[in-house]
Amino acid sequence: MAQTPAFPAAATAPILLFDSGVGGLSVLEALRGLRPDAPVIYAADNAGLPYGEKTEAEIAARVAGLLGRMTERLRPRLVCIACNTASTIALAMVRDVLEVPIVGTVPAIKPAAALTTTGVIGLLGTAATIRQGYVDRLEAEFARDKTLLRFAAPELVSAAEARLRGEPVDPAVFARAAAGLRDQPGGERIDTVVLACTHFPLVAAELGAAFGPGVRFVDGAAGIARRIASLTAGQAFARTAPDLALFTRDGPDLAALGPSLAARGLERVAVF
Ligand code: DGL
Repeated sequence: MAQTPAFPAAATAPILLFDSGVGGLSVLEALRGLRPDAPVIYAADNAGLPYGEKTEAEIAARVAGLLGRMTERLRPRLVCIACNTASTIALAMVRDVLEVPIVGTVPAIKPAAALTTTGVIGLLGTAATIRQGYVDRLEAEFARDKTLLRFAAPELVSAAEARLRGEPVDPAVFARAAAGLRDQPGGERIDTVVLACTHFPLVAAELGAAFGPGVRFVDGAAGIARRIASLTAGQAFARTAPDLALFTRDGPDLAALGPSLAARGLERVAVF
């Protein structure tokens, strides 16, 4: 189906950023740097969090269904699936059914392969992401002459959520993620780690402390922001009201997340 909207977007038409939780805020930060004038609706399917522990069928159904309803009601000019798990599983399907440009999130294996000097790359993602053929294909295309070690770190998703609620996080969580890669054969030579879950850049400082010096992290946020900016180049933007954060389930977490959301320009919170 067509990827170009039939009518030019109104200046107030939002960019819809979608994730299971707060992970997509790492993408929002990068987007704000390039398009501070863009009205944004940040949508978190917290009723479905964590996606990484779900089956492919569950994730595809949730993401396609929710994005269908959201695009109908919110009329975004562009949708960004700011979630590696949802993108690696459902991006093609969502693109087939929605008549709005869709930007996905691809694990940053290509830039990591260009940066590594030891030839050993680590990849941290959710359990659902690291088993995807999509990741196998990126590895085959861009890192065939490298060693790519993968580790599923669902604990980091909850750690990022807790951190943005202002709660303390046990440093052992980050140590376990580092050990999960380091303890694999060749793991001691890792110099570059792909953060293949949008939640993980939100705890990059803690991960940096756990891995120690000599390891750099790569994620897709800057590339996604550039892609959104290029697809919307020349469009009029008017950010006339505080941006909106939408959640699929109400609860005390929403109030706890308030300060972190407001710090990123999401001063209104509602339930979808
Ligand atoms: N933020 C999501 C990602 O990029 C995953 C978090 C989850 O498990 O729901 O993969």
